[in-house]
Amino acid sequence: MIVLAVETSCDETSVAVSKNGDTILSNCVLSQIDTHQAFGGVVPEIASREHVKGMTVVFKEALETAGITAQEVDLVAVTQGPGLIGSLLIGINAAKAFAFAHQKPLIGVHHIAGHIYANRLAGPFVFPLICLVVSGGHTELILMRDHYQFEKLGETQDDAVGEAYDKVARVLGLEYPGGPHIDQLAKTASADMPMPVSNIDGYHFSYSGLKSHVINVLNQKRMKKEPIDVPVLAASFQAAAIEQLVRKSRAAVDAYQAKMFMVAGGVAANHHLRERVNALFSDVLVRMPPLEYCTDNAAMISLAAYYQFQADQKVDSLDLKGYARLKLTP
Ligand code: KG4
Ligand code: ZN
Repeated sequence: MIVLAVETSCDETSVAVSKNGDTILSNCVLSQIDTHQAFGGVVPEIASREHVKGMTVVFKEALETAGITAQEVDLVAVTQGPGLIGSLLIGINAAKAFAFAHQKPLIGVHHIAGHIYANRLAGPFVFPLICLVVSGGHTELILMRDHYQFEKLGETQDDAVGEAYDKVARVLGLEYPGGPHIDQLAKTASADMPMPVSNIDGYHFSYSGLKSHVINVLNQKRMKKEPIDVPVLAASFQAAAIEQLVRKSRAAVDAYQAKMFMVAGGVAANHHLRERVNALFSDVLVRMPPLEYCTDNAAMISLAAYYQFQADQKVDSLDLKGYARLKLTP
């Protein structure tokens, strides 16, 4: 079964083709980061316009790289939400146009289901499993007892961890998106500065306290004209941010006797998180997506679409709508 997928929920225009839910034939990603960097974050109106500009080129390249014709596609998938509504609508309309022109079935996919299924590229899923979802908009623990069955155990009560990375990076004067820059800087220093690790109830997360702490430390040092060791600050922030993630994850894996632990979303690319996961979860199977499939891409949407279709055999009509907010769990 050949699935062609479109992903435009934020600032990457991406089209991918996959086969049988485990093999990527092409994954073309046109990043708009350079365009948004000047503004220190994603500007929704500009993002929509850039998606329109890039869409046909990316579509053509995805089919050419996969070495298939439009007729060979069995299912067209598209990210339905959550995300920037203007951006989502560009992808949805492109997918609809392709499905209509070539008379192919269309299916809407949840963006986070896509991030979770990027893990399929690291191997098959073994249930029950716990997935830690960590991106710019999400920080949550999901329990899966079977394919395409998601139960949310807990989530952030304020900032997402990726958002905290980006905000801390901004006050440190680093470029958007800040996560990868903090990750790089942290490699060069030790985490010597004490930082608070939130102890919020259950499987929930909280990042506003840690973020405010870093901002306060910086402001005080600037007022007192004291030197700021940016790499040490970055490493210390990162150690506290990741500690909260792995502590909560470990508790969930134990409580639900999970056979597998996986990580999904942009922050899954973080080297310190990957190291801690490998060290702390050696008693269960571990999956983490290959680095290039951690941040937004259409390949992950095509894999999720395959399993979504296997699970319920349902397709959507050409009335499919996009949603800025959309729940993964019932
Ligand atoms: O999943 P994603 O591409 O987009 C959303 O759905 O949000 O995640 C983007 C987020 C950004 O906050 C970015 O700073 C963060 O992932 N990120 C990282 C790393 N690479 C990307 N955070 C920490 N370390 C990284 N290496
Ligand atoms: Zn994402």
